[in-house]
Amino acid sequence: MKLLKTKAGLTGELTVPADKSISHRSIMFGAISHGKTTVHNFLRAEDCLSTVAVFKALGVTVHDDGTDIIVEGKGFDQLQAPNNMLDAGNSGTTLRLVLGILAGQPFNSKIAGDASLNRRPMERVMGPLRKMGGNLQGKTGGEFPPIEVQGSELSGITYEMTIASAQVKSAILFAALQADGLTTIIEKEKSRNHTEEMIKQFGGEILVEDKTITVSGGQKLTGQEVTVPGDISSAAFYLVAATLLPESDLRLNHVGVNPTRTGILDVLAEMGADIQHVALDKKNQAADLLIKTAALKGTEIGGEIIPRLIDELPIIALAATQAEGTTVIRDAQELKVKETNRIDATALELNKLGANIEATDDGMIIHGPTPLHGGVVDSHGDHRIGMMLQIAALLTDETVELNNPEAINISYPDFFTDLSSLI
Ligand code: S3P
Repeated sequence: MKLLKTKAGLTGELTVPADKSISHRSIMFGAISHGKTTVHNFLRAEDCLSTVAVFKALGVTVHDDGTDIIVEGKGFDQLQAPNNMLDAGNSGTTLRLVLGILAGQPFNSKIAGDASLNRRPMERVMGPLRKMGGNLQGKTGGEFPPIEVQGSELSGITYEMTIASAQVKSAILFAALQADGLTTIIEKEKSRNHTEEMIKQFGGEILVEDKTITVSGGQKLTGQEVTVPGDISSAAFYLVAATLLPESDLRLNHVGVNPTRTGILDVLAEMGADIQHVALDKKNQAADLLIKTAALKGTEIGGEIIPRLIDELPIIALAATQAEGTTVIRDAQELKVKETNRIDATALELNKLGANIEATDDGMIIHGPTPLHGGVVDSHGDHRIGMMLQIAALLTDETVELNNPEAINISYPDFFTDLSSLI
């Protein structure tokens, strides 16, 4: 498809779609808790609908009343053996977190996803779950889906994480809630903490001391009302577009600003962006963000900040192509095992439009500023690469065509309509 163009900046205001990570977890926690969970502002995009479908297949009543999603939870004990292979679609969060739930169930199950998800590594989750007594096998005994899970009883463990991953941490936490005794997780770097926050919100106990998390098994959780804030990972595309385009004046309403997710705000501030927080909603960890055009300079990004902006690195790389000087991204090797290899895809596609990006083993070196020009680019079936390329297209007068744009429906079905309303 031909991508949207603009002659000026982004102006007006927008409420970005609901947070994907919190939407997934609201269904999962609703399902394993007792009583009704009402989810306000649930993200009705393909990934989160995969989570809904998986829990329906496990016998949980999930109902969309047109405004809210209602989950009738009956606790871990009442999940039912699925009749067929569970389908996580394109969603790594669905597949990995659900493994932590399935591992402690008395029944056998199988779960897989689409071609992209079935190429993504699962040993990182199966390894710790096996240490807890889980019985999980990938295809032909390997680590890729379909994964077969045999019903098992789990015991608590102490586990030192070897990668910084909220998905791995969360899978262990779901298993820990079903295990005998205490589980302690020591994180490599602090990653998004929505699972820990929701254990508390649903009435559970969890102790978090810096990077050490302790939780006991056998806790009874109770259904809640959840209000999902806007997704900073979706807001990211507008943060960068409004900063780079001339004469922007944009307000993004009720964006989630949980500090484990706001690495992009820190990096853009460091690069010289003009982004203010107003109307803080402490209860839901959200704020309105006001963005004005600004000139950027290159920066270095690595270490503990990486998990706080991992999904935003493709759009940060685009920002860096327009910044004065060199930007170095390191310690981001996890980008290679996302929906696609996001290091290679970002460098390849943006270089087609005139950027100067070197892909490295653990990140990118971006030499800026480089004017961009037209061309034909590809999303690689990855929603975030697709949206990043649409923002790149706004930076040139020439035509940019995007192949495989439908990937954007994974997290943001209204992306093009929303963007059109601001240009
Ligand atoms: C997510 C964790 C991150 C992130 C993904 C969502 C989550 O993955 O990239 O989009 O909701 O827990 P990793 O935990 O593998 O880094």
